[in-house]
Amino acid sequence: MLAWLQKPVNFHEFHGEGVFEPVRAQDYAGPPGKPLNLLLQARADFLSIWRAGDYSEGISQIRVLGRQVVVVNSPALIRDVVVKRQENYERKSPQMRRALEHLLGDGLFISDGETWRQRRALVADIVHMNRVPAFGPVMEKTASELVEHWNAVPEGTTLNALHEMAGLTAEIISRAVFGNQLGEEGAASVSEGFSSYQSLIDSINLGYFLGFDDGLPILRTPSLRRSVKRIHRVIDKVVEDHLAGRGDHNSMVELLIRRQQRNPELKLDVVALRNEAATIFMAGHETTAATLTWAWYLLARAPWVERSVHEEIARVCGDRTPTIDDVPNLEWCKAVIEETLRLYPPVPILARQNRKADELGGVTIAANSLILIVPWLLHRTGSLFAEPHRFLPERFMEGRRPTSYSYIPFASGPRVCPGLHFGLTEAVLCLAIIAQRFRVRVPEKHRVEPVCRLTLRPRDGLPVTLEKRAGAPA
Ligand code: HEM
Repeated sequence: MLAWLQKPVNFHEFHGEGVFEPVRAQDYAGPPGKPLNLLLQARADFLSIWRAGDYSEGISQIRVLGRQVVVVNSPALIRDVVVKRQENYERKSPQMRRALEHLLGDGLFISDGETWRQRRALVADIVHMNRVPAFGPVMEKTASELVEHWNAVPEGTTLNALHEMAGLTAEIISRAVFGNQLGEEGAASVSEGFSSYQSLIDSINLGYFLGFDDGLPILRTPSLRRSVKRIHRVIDKVVEDHLAGRGDHNSMVELLIRRQQRNPELKLDVVALRNEAATIFMAGHETTAATLTWAWYLLARAPWVERSVHEEIARVCGDRTPTIDDVPNLEWCKAVIEETLRLYPPVPILARQNRKADELGGVTIAANSLILIVPWLLHRTGSLFAEPHRFLPERFMEGRRPTSYSYIPFASGPRVCPGLHFGLTEAVLCLAIIAQRFRVRVPEKHRVEPVCRLTLRPRDGLPVTLEKRAGAPA
């Protein structure tokens, strides 16, 4: 709808001697004071609406149709929103809630109030950092299977790195959440169901801008219904098997069920269990897949960083495949992932709806406004990061850390991503296991375009060829 009104987006990438500024949309230069234009541009690509001046600390507001939209881009004010006044700002935006409600029901990602508080404790405990080592073998095995599969791919074949990484991380999270029970067919069904669901929903709910505080429900078209049904059918079967004692004992679903059996007051019925399992599955694979895909693009265009990564893996792991115990010693790999998350935060916008009117940084905010914290902007704000558009993993090395609330790829405060340690560990480990064996090449002439829907990914994925590394362990 209205696609013909959308402006084309131009992209910019810079290469110099030992310097690489990866691709981003050129600064918006449309006439000011035309919110409708901005809304249309945002539908084309949310990351192409920022003017050069937006990459600075502060708070700004705009009225779009009937709605106040506030962009918060300073660490102190972000802290106010996500920590100090979190109760007023904990609610996800109507666009996010409406976009995901058919799929996730009251799942943690989009719930708030009492439901969120109860479920948060439960889910956070299940994906807690203390449990991550238990999932190390699943990560190692699945990444090694991909390496084996790639070994059989004829040299020169073009693969889509985004599909490859999505398959890898979906398999890891699916084995972690559901155990080994899903089977190839079930796993493919769930993954494809999620992808087609995402492609069918619209991230901008016009109803909200037209005055409906809770937005308008997304039309359940037959294809949307089909994707939802497909996912729910597979997950329900796993949950029912677990409830009947036929489940895999080390899976997250099993942990959820055991918790419910110990605490019946949680009232988690099959639907609630399915919603939380689907939430962890959805939240836990797209993001990591996008991170790894962007990391391959960055490494391919900055061979001097790629060399340091290779040297480190050889130094730390020698001839053996990297394991979860190596992760703390893989400083370059971790810095590459952290810098990737800075430049291409998989969740580039955190959108909230305030319950009550408030005043923030001198701006009066009406109840039910749209509050945007935009990691994409924040992470590229010059006063917070030197040479903000440059790929420079060193900024995360030797104990250097960004100032508090200036680097938030996993959000922050009580709604911080509970899978932070799982996701970071998984990304570092998969990067190391794959980089030990292959150089992942992106064709010189390929022009990458970031596109922002629910997550930030390269449009149409990332074409790559694989080069087996000479001297890599057999
Ligand atoms: C690189 C990987 C990941 C990134 C960048 C990431 C990022 C985020 C962000 C930014 C949020 C907050 C969204 C918002 O407030 O609007 C979030 C929430 C969440 N993430 Fe992650 N995530 C990652 C991996 C994972 C993994 C591996 C899991 C599970 C194993 C997970 C589970 C969740 C859940 C359940 C929530 C909802 C939490 C709540 O609302 O209380 N994430 N994630």
